[in-house]
Amino acid sequence: MTHSLTLTLKLAILSTILAVSYARGAVVPDPHSFSRPDAVSLKHLDLKLTVDFATKTLQGEALWTVDRKDPAAPLLLDTKGLDILAVASDGTGLKYAISEPRPIFGSKLEINLPAGTDKVKVLIRYRTRPDASGLQWVAPEGTAGRKAPFLFSQSQAIHARSWVPCQDTPGVRFTYDAEVKVEPQFRAVMSALSEDARNGSPKGLYRFRQTRPIPSYLLALAVGRLEFESIGPRSGVYAEPETLALAVSEFGDTESMIKAVEARYGPYEWGRYDLLVLPPSFPFGGMENPVVTFATPTILAGDKSMVSLVAHELAHSWSGNLVTNATWHDFWLNEGFTTYVEGRIMEDIYGPQRGEVERRLGYEELLREIAELPPEDQRLLPDFSDRDPDDGVTRIPYEKGRLLLYQMEKRVGREAFDKFLKGWFAAHAWKSVTTDDFVRHYESKLLADHAEALKGLNLRDWFDKPGHPQSAEVPQSDQLAKLQALGGEWAAGKVKTADLGTKAWTLPDWLAFLGATPPVLPLPLMAELDKAADLTAKANSEVAHVWFLRAIRSGYEPADKAIDDYIVRIGRRKLIVPLYKALLETPGGTRRAKVLFEKARPGYHPITSGTVERLLGLPAGTS
Ligand code: BES
Ligand code: ZN
Repeated sequence: MTHSLTLTLKLAILSTILAVSYARGAVVPDPHSFSRPDAVSLKHLDLKLTVDFATKTLQGEALWTVDRKDPAAPLLLDTKGLDILAVASDGTGLKYAISEPRPIFGSKLEINLPAGTDKVKVLIRYRTRPDASGLQWVAPEGTAGRKAPFLFSQSQAIHARSWVPCQDTPGVRFTYDAEVKVEPQFRAVMSALSEDARNGSPKGLYRFRQTRPIPSYLLALAVGRLEFESIGPRSGVYAEPETLALAVSEFGDTESMIKAVEARYGPYEWGRYDLLVLPPSFPFGGMENPVVTFATPTILAGDKSMVSLVAHELAHSWSGNLVTNATWHDFWLNEGFTTYVEGRIMEDIYGPQRGEVERRLGYEELLREIAELPPEDQRLLPDFSDRDPDDGVTRIPYEKGRLLLYQMEKRVGREAFDKFLKGWFAAHAWKSVTTDDFVRHYESKLLADHAEALKGLNLRDWFDKPGHPQSAEVPQSDQLAKLQALGGEWAAGKVKTADLGTKAWTLPDWLAFLGATPPVLPLPLMAELDKAADLTAKANSEVAHVWFLRAIRSGYEPADKAIDDYIVRIGRRKLIVPLYKALLETPGGTRRAKVLFEKARPGYHPITSGTVERLLGLPAGTS
């Protein structure tokens, strides 16, 4: 009795302490990091790296300025596959220990700090390994020019630790300066301002400065045969010479996009907004590295049909980079807000219909995802504590998150909702935030003034339940509905291929039309459509994706070679993983999938290889 009372009391005290400290925006425990930033936290990084393509390693020095709240506590850092060569402070070696590696998480690096001082600098000399999960060393054949190798990082979610020892949690922010040494034929680019990067450095020495505090997942580096061309007052494109001109014209609306967001949600705080075109093995579409968005070349369609990706990564400059999810548990605060803002940008620049169409397509992707995922992963707040946060990248945080914000917008009106969002960014700028922070902000800044309009919108239903509430207002699009109806009629033989009018179709038309056809189509129809629109040879990467899904399931052999080339060349997970899945469901497809993967694996990023290995039931990491 006494015992349980004491326990209750202890728990009550503990939860009061936690509630008070969280309310002040203090550090939230992050299950994906070994660090204890409540005791000792990182403030600034001076990074020196030498890039060696021959050994596929970075050799470096990370000099961390740390802030000690607990003067007796050690500095705990995340590392993954790093060879630590020395640790010192002020020229004196420090004692350190590295724990046994845990899959996905890596090892804890525990450093004993000298007694006393509040602020201390800790120097770590280290080397990365060729298989670092956050780096891809691309062979010349994997690049546009096929002349020189290419290196790029992808730190989100928890891969920064594989190339910089750090507190690898989005709850900790730091500024950084860096010096990167490369051979003179290469150019280095980082997520920080640098005139060297824009001008090129004949000696191969690149200096960078990031004066805004960023979380570790926004540390980024790319090195390749890159050129730079300006596209606006604060924007430009880095790309290989072979793709530069196409990229420059494709990204021509960037400055208008920046202005559009600024007009609604407050100033762009990062100085420059550049874009960097990566090799096709980049496992994502885009990554919002501050100052320079990293992008897949598969969006360079020549008709700006996929620039919503630029809108998306740009929007992260507010939702994500300025106001950051405190742990990966709150990932929807990054992606849901960003997807919402992305839609608003598309609408501002290209008109209401484009916004409507993209919202509806997004909603339909959400429905398909809900049909496939286990109920617990359909929650906006799923539990990923023991899992790889990369596996949380489903349509749920993106589209269910956007749909929730859309409910609020519809109920209170755009003007009030925009004001609310602008206030959210301003009030939490440069902070890491939790869903509870959002709920508090919502209650005091939106619900308080619009109680009647927001009645019945129960946030907990969205956070904790699968699917989405029945009562949700869902986006509609007449344009898409018409093409979907047409898709059904055409597949049923009621409309002739020649009467479809495919010449005038844009990307969403194709996605709607093809998406509405059954997965298996009669071969003569496939052949007719292919002849009419040259889909196998000419479709852009997203249309090709849907077309190839139909081709695989229908056994349409004329597309076989194009499909094989696509799967081997492109590493963007979203485009190729569903193709592998479709192959597995066809007779003889498993063998074909395995043969293709063997061929493709040397060119894939570790993240993509890992996903495909799991899908094919192959042992991990033999690439
Ligand atoms: N930050 C994400 C990419 C990401 C998320 C990488 C989680 C690693 C872990 C980026 O902003 C993103 O969402 N990219 C999308 C493109 C977008 C247009 C939806 C992608 O890569 O598909
Ligand atoms: Zn995103």
